Amino acid sequence: MATIEYVLGDITAQEVDVIVNAANSSLLGGGRVDGAIHRRGGPEILAECRRLRAGHYGGGLRTGQAVATTAGRLKARWVVHTVGPVWSDAEDRSQFLEDCHRNSLAVATGLGATSIAFPAISTGIYRWPVDSAARIARKAVRDAEIDLIRFVLFDQATYDAFARP
Ligand code: APR
Repeated sequence: MATIEYVLGDITAQEVDVIVNAANSSLLGGGRVDGAIHRRGGPEILAECRRLRAGHYGGGLRTGQAVATTAGRLKARWVVHTVGPVWSDAEDRSQFLEDCHRNSLAVATGLGATSIAFPAISTGIYRWPVDSAARIARKAVRDAEIDLIRFVLFDQATYDAFARP
């Protein structure tokens, strides 16, 4: 069983094997956590994302899927990029958010990682309500076969939603 931690902070500063990026399907960068990871990790990450786009991921990464690259200058060994669902009032996209967590874990353990840090996927630009995202994320990782899962939350309200007993 994994140890699950909740910390208030910046995911780019974490010393874990894998940092998960809340990316978009282009894999070519964006704002917020995606922007911070590429900025701090340096151009090697984007270079590898471009190679992925030139190869197997020519059409981009689908929502809920996950793929690894180098972590560049970050302290982590790998960045696992996943694409969260955009919140919709009209349809339930929860399964995609669950898939993001499960598929990121599968990629990480496939690489031999023993520790992984997740941001609050979809709760920023993609507008997913934080309480719902926290519930889905916590449930999705509950039975994971990895030593350490750390949720790194960037503001107090998000931290409170995730760390709630
Ligand atoms: N460390 C940890 N969490 C962070 C950081 C950081 N350095 N920066 C932002 N966050 C938090 C946000 O506050 C939010 O709680 O990450 C959460 C996810 O927000 P977004 O980064 O906006 O991700 P998401 O909602 O999944 O939207 C993805 O945003 O950046 C683009 O390319 C990305 O188009 C994609 C979209």
